[in-house]
Amino acid sequence: MSLSPRWRVVLLSLLLTAGPAFAADRPAQAPAVASKVQKPGHAAIASANFLATNAGLEVLAKGGNAFDAAVAVASTLSVVEPESSGLGGGFMAVLRRASDGREVFIDAREVAPAAVDPKDYLNPDGSPNRDAALVGPLSAGIPGEPAGLAWLSEHYGKLPLATSLAPAIRTARDGFEPDSRLRHAIAERADDLRRWPASAAKYLVGGKAPAEGTLWRDPDQARTLQILARQGHEGFYQGEVAKKLVSAVRAAGGNWTEADLAGYRVKERAPISIDYRGYRVVTAPPPSSGGVAIAEILNILRGVEMDKLDHAQRVHYVIEAMRRAFRDHNDYLGDPDFVKMPLDMLLSPFYADGLRQSILPDQATPSSMLPTSGAHDPGPHTTHFSIIDKDGNMIAVTSTVNYTLGSTFVAAGTGVLLNDEMDDFALVPGKPNVYGLLGSKANAPVGGKRMLSSMSPSLVLGRDRTAVIGSPGGSTIITQVLEGILAFIDGKDASAIVAQKRFHHQFLPDRVDVEEGVFDAATTRELERMGYSLHPRSPWGFMNVVTWDHRSNALDAASDPRRPSGLGKVQ
Ligand code: GLY
Repeated sequence: MSLSPRWRVVLLSLLLTAGPAFAADRPAQAPAVASKVQKPGHAAIASANFLATNAGLEVLAKGGNAFDAAVAVASTLSVVEPESSGLGGGFMAVLRRASDGREVFIDAREVAPAAVDPKDYLNPDGSPNRDAALVGPLSAGIPGEPAGLAWLSEHYGKLPLATSLAPAIRTARDGFEPDSRLRHAIAERADDLRRWPASAAKYLVGGKAPAEGTLWRDPDQARTLQILARQGHEGFYQGEVAKKLVSAVRAAGGNWTEADLAGYRVKERAPISIDYRGYRVVTAPPPSSGGVAIAEILNILRGVEMDKLDHAQRVHYVIEAMRRAFRDHNDYLGDPDFVKMPLDMLLSPFYADGLRQSILPDQATPSSMLPTSGAHDPGPHTTHFSIIDKDGNMIAVTSTVNYTLGSTFVAAGTGVLLNDEMDDFALVPGKPNVYGLLGSKANAPVGGKRMLSSMSPSLVLGRDRTAVIGSPGGSTIITQVLEGILAFIDGKDASAIVAQKRFHHQFLPDRVDVEEGVFDAATTRELERMGYSLHPRSPWGFMNVVTWDHRSNALDAASDPRRPSGLGKVQ
């Protein structure tokens, strides 16, 4: 291949930036963050379902804080929005405790069972077995959500776990009317649900998705939640519930053991913290790829004089930053307890300087030009909620069972719908997962290892304004949250942030996914002239944002207008 002089410059600077980790960092400009003693005096919650938001408000009214409310919201989502998250899945959260300013990342991500065998995800001819990766018990990692809820309550909450779980137990026991998203998700996955008797019994009515107005009860999950409420962590991971989970999984061809469940632990990790234009973004570290990618993109962009560029050029730089961050996502990232990652390098402003230099001012960089060491549209899966309480505690939680209704496998007698998070590992080298993401050895499946996630719950802390932000959306979580952060820093309010049109690039496939109307005709023409291939995509996430204006002390909450039943509420 012969290269033009400009491509030689690109390639040279990329090779220069692909070196070892940089030890030094530029002195950080400490952004001014609102005083930790400031209190809004009221609270706000934005979640994907009004029953879950109300559960959080109910627990706040009983004297709980944002972390108790998070337990109430997440556990209620397990009942009313099982297509997105639940006890059989896992979550990642970034929180800030007002009393001492403690910022921490709660990793309640699923882990691979000890007996994981990559061959189980291959067909006899060596091609990827997508069914094993996405449906049934082999696709399920050991859940982290129940442990995470117990951890949040015990270490950060004010109320007993039983009080925070009470709304979810009541809703599961007494029933609720499934919303249109849940009814559609069940209809979409009905063929898979029919494969497992306990799944069909739980989700199908007369063999079909429940009709509008059906009162729907979930007594098995109510019982499992009650045991969790009474016994805490052990109530799920040992004893009756654990035995039922393991026996159901093994009877259907899975490989979980009671030791896998008994060994599950929540991890607390230091969040990634990155300064950008007077704000500090506090976001998810590995085993999420989200925070590393967001930090890398912001580091690239902060060296670009965005104010001096026209719209198409600004978009061009954002896309090129996304492309480079996702290249690194594929090459380097995995579970920090299992792999060494060059995080010093990836998070260094010097590394970003090199990447920025490789961006031509008026031309797309084909992904094939970027040296490497190595989609599917997002459906109604994964969920995010944001909370700030009256004392200024804040928490961003993104929770998932992976694909819509996870593995579709309900463990008989527990009401627990298992995730299909094993597909988030790089199960077959060189083959993409359901989100079109590739991975390297760093994200290969190993017993006890956490699969890489895109979940990017984030806090954006400034002197005058703060945002708690996140979204579902598979690999697009990262770019949606990034665009939300940029919009907030540009001064947009919560409603404008969630409504803003979106675009996405993830290195491979080498295309820009665009929401209808995101670019005007002139910008579209200019981007196509630069060499971008624009690809219409729908749907786009379900962002839930709470903002706090420290000058007026006003809280604002907003839910993505793209889907029904999302509600932001301020109390
Ligand atoms: N299961 C989607 C994610 O964690 O990124």
